[in-house]
Amino acid sequence: MKPDSMSLDPALVLALNEATSRLERGEVVGLPTETVYGLAGRLDRPAALEKIFRVKERPFFDPLIVHVDSIEGAKTLVKDWGPLPQALAEGFWPGPLTLVLAKNDKVPDLVTSGLDSVGVRCPDHSIALELIRRAGPLAAPSANRFGRTSPTSWRHVQTEFGDQVFVIPADESRIGIESSVLKLDGDRLSMLRPGMITTRMIEQSLHEKGLSFQWVESVKASEAPGQMKHHYMPSIPLIWVESDLSPLQIRELLNQRRSELPIEVEGVALQSAPKGQSYVHGAELLLPREASLAARGLYAELRRLGESGADHLFFRFQLEMQGEEWGAILERLTKAASLKLS
Ligand code: TXA
Ligand code: MG
Repeated sequence: MKPDSMSLDPALVLALNEATSRLERGEVVGLPTETVYGLAGRLDRPAALEKIFRVKERPFFDPLIVHVDSIEGAKTLVKDWGPLPQALAEGFWPGPLTLVLAKNDKVPDLVTSGLDSVGVRCPDHSIALELIRRAGPLAAPSANRFGRTSPTSWRHVQTEFGDQVFVIPADESRIGIESSVLKLDGDRLSMLRPGMITTRMIEQSLHEKGLSFQWVESVKASEAPGQMKHHYMPSIPLIWVESDLSPLQIRELLNQRRSELPIEVEGVALQSAPKGQSYVHGAELLLPREASLAARGLYAELRRLGESGADHLFFRFQLEMQGEEWGAILERLTKAASLKLS
């Protein structure tokens, strides 16, 4: 797990050093991970934690995930580390699984939005792990403005925040969508956000270790504050299509039904065609058949199409998009869509 810093590109070594000293000074940095890029600050720097919310324009009621470099690191943040988190961390860390557990006093209330639980995750990325080793646990949400598409390359982060944020210019995120968020309360599990670690994989891993557990339905809104909102929205309307309408028919229906498009969703403004004008140029979001490839390219493609000169996007749901991995992708697209045509 430990990267050999000497084998890193010299530019990345310099960027790591720069990021370490900025974090030390209480600044925030753009952090590469295998899921999406994060906007990271040290847990012991309140100014950095505040800056994360300010720069992202994120409401204070939406808690941050804390990134650790090991199981030992996670144990320092939670009340009890029982057999279930141990088994899941052994099975899936480093990797795209966030465990929500009862927190201890080391975790500032700002990070958890006053909740008594904290989300912890050990990212599967050598640069992220090295930075955590140097700087300690890092609080980091995805490095996008609130309600917008998560970044999967360092350039996305730069486009989003410009000079406000120093980003480590590492590789593109390999997974491409955010981690699965699993809440644990004793032996009761609930999946707060689906991701590439699926409920099936979790069940199998726990069964293999002979551990018992039960699934409980995803909880009150106050326990899952991030799940209520329409995240992931591109800058122009995305239309979810379930039939074989032609691009022209999609455009006509969109123009007929444009009054149904939200102007704003939960405080996030959406762009629409200027008053009196029609939508004229649609672009189709095409995804590979294989779920892991579709996830990897999803956000970059949404951004690219959003900047391509099109004034609306459409995505055709296909019956082959089955299984839990597709479920995680479709969950993002459902939230990103402004209108459904069937
Ligand atoms: O893959 C990821 O998880 C990325 C990378 C950077 O690690 N991070 C990420 O963070 O997606 P963010 O803040 O964009 O999404 C975290 C989600 C939010 O929906 C938040 O509400 C939820 O996790 N969350 C965090 N702590 C929680 C807690 N204590 N209880 C319930 N939900 C929590
Ligand atoms: Mg996010």
